[in-house]
Amino acid sequence: MQSSEIKRDQWGSKLGFILAAAGSAVGLGNLWKFPFLAGQNGGGAFVLVYFIILFVVGFTLMMAEITVGRYAQLNAIGAYRKIRESWAWAGSLGVLAGFLILSFYSVIGGWIISYLVKAASGSFNTADVQLLGGMFNEFISSAGMPIFYHGVFMLITLGIVMGGIQNGIEKYSKIMMPALFIIMVLVMIRSVTLDGAMEGVKFFLTPDFSKITGGVILSALGQVFFSLSLGMGCMITYGSYLSKDENIPQSSMIIPLIDTGVALLAGLAILPAVFAFGFSPNAGPGLLFITLPAVFSKMPMGSLVGVAFFILALFAAVTSSISLLEVCVSYVVDEWNWTRKKATLIISGMIFALGIPCSLSQGPWSHITLIKGKNILDSVDFIATNILLPLGGIILSIFVGWVWGLYKEQRIHKTEDGKTVITWDLAYTDAIKEITNDGKINFALAHVWVFLIKWVAPIAISIVFLQGIFA
Ligand code: PFF
Repeated sequence: MQSSEIKRDQWGSKLGFILAAAGSAVGLGNLWKFPFLAGQNGGGAFVLVYFIILFVVGFTLMMAEITVGRYAQLNAIGAYRKIRESWAWAGSLGVLAGFLILSFYSVIGGWIISYLVKAASGSFNTADVQLLGGMFNEFISSAGMPIFYHGVFMLITLGIVMGGIQNGIEKYSKIMMPALFIIMVLVMIRSVTLDGAMEGVKFFLTPDFSKITGGVILSALGQVFFSLSLGMGCMITYGSYLSKDENIPQSSMIIPLIDTGVALLAGLAILPAVFAFGFSPNAGPGLLFITLPAVFSKMPMGSLVGVAFFILALFAAVTSSISLLEVCVSYVVDEWNWTRKKATLIISGMIFALGIPCSLSQGPWSHITLIKGKNILDSVDFIATNILLPLGGIILSIFVGWVWGLYKEQRIHKTEDGKTVITWDLAYTDAIKEITNDGKINFALAHVWVFLIKWVAPIAISIVFLQGIFA
């Protein structure tokens, strides 16, 4: 079967793995979602909460997912099953999350394609954000074109996943990811040097503690999961391609750092410009599409920068969307024995169909609300990002910490003068062996990680989750 051949491939190099995993992490979550969530949730307050959750939960779960994946060398469900037969169900929750996320992710990916076309045809060479806002609203609220572009985005994703992913992802990530980084730095420099931009920098970086509510904390939690591709087994799948001599602790640090770096760059590219152009930071999902074109128009060779930006943003979105689709496809290929082609086509078709109401909810169906007064797209996002991903994180941390097992062993030592000393040392469990490559890597923070994954992660996520849902 093609999929199992592909699965047993390994990344060609360490850099290849890091770039591909970072490619899954870095996407619309960083470029589009992070800045508008920060804008809606009090700027610096959101960024601060995001950072706390990133340090306490993000790194911890990243390491847990990669470890489970590399140990099992299987997709998420297979991995849970291999470690504990009765836990296979835990993986299927992630498949549902991936399915839901991709249905609206692809709609936004379609907006990016359409803006790439607009940038290439020079149709937004203006710094008038009211005009740009009108253009954006007119576009997303129309029925036909956004759905068309959503279809184009799904076709690109489907084409790559159907062809097998290794070669493509690894090869292009090496060029496109650094290019994206460079262009983001350029756009950020222009944005923060606009007249009046400092207000926005302050808004983004100074936390106003009165803005921190249960809802803000839940959005930050969901965003950490969404942005790092955690809580749905995606990093389990990517970890399964990682070679046995690579350094898991190091990779688990680097991927979140790259991801956060790009999110901060995007925030600093967009929010200062919002203030400089006298726009509202809580404008929501349109922020990227309204503010950045205005920034481009103020840059030397701005139309070129605009085209380059949307090409790279599209690439970032596609390296994430293929990882979302891959999680679903590998599930039905392995569990239901479908061929890869059939699985990819049928699932993509279903995701496309579910994306249609998401797209229409920006215009003709905007009056339909599902959860907490949210439109269809926002509701699907809420269910997947703020409910299913954190749930997946709670399950994963309990699984790794308690079921797979991380525990201390009593050791009795004799000192030179004959005294008996008892210590409690971290036992050489399968997880610790996997992380340290059988003791070859020094994992100095092992005790900290074990404490975080056993206690802090499940409890902290549960608290944030429950108070955010019921608040
Ligand atoms: N991390 C991606 C982004 O920030 O755009 C989205 C994503 C990809 C979420 C893969 C979850 C996932 F498994």
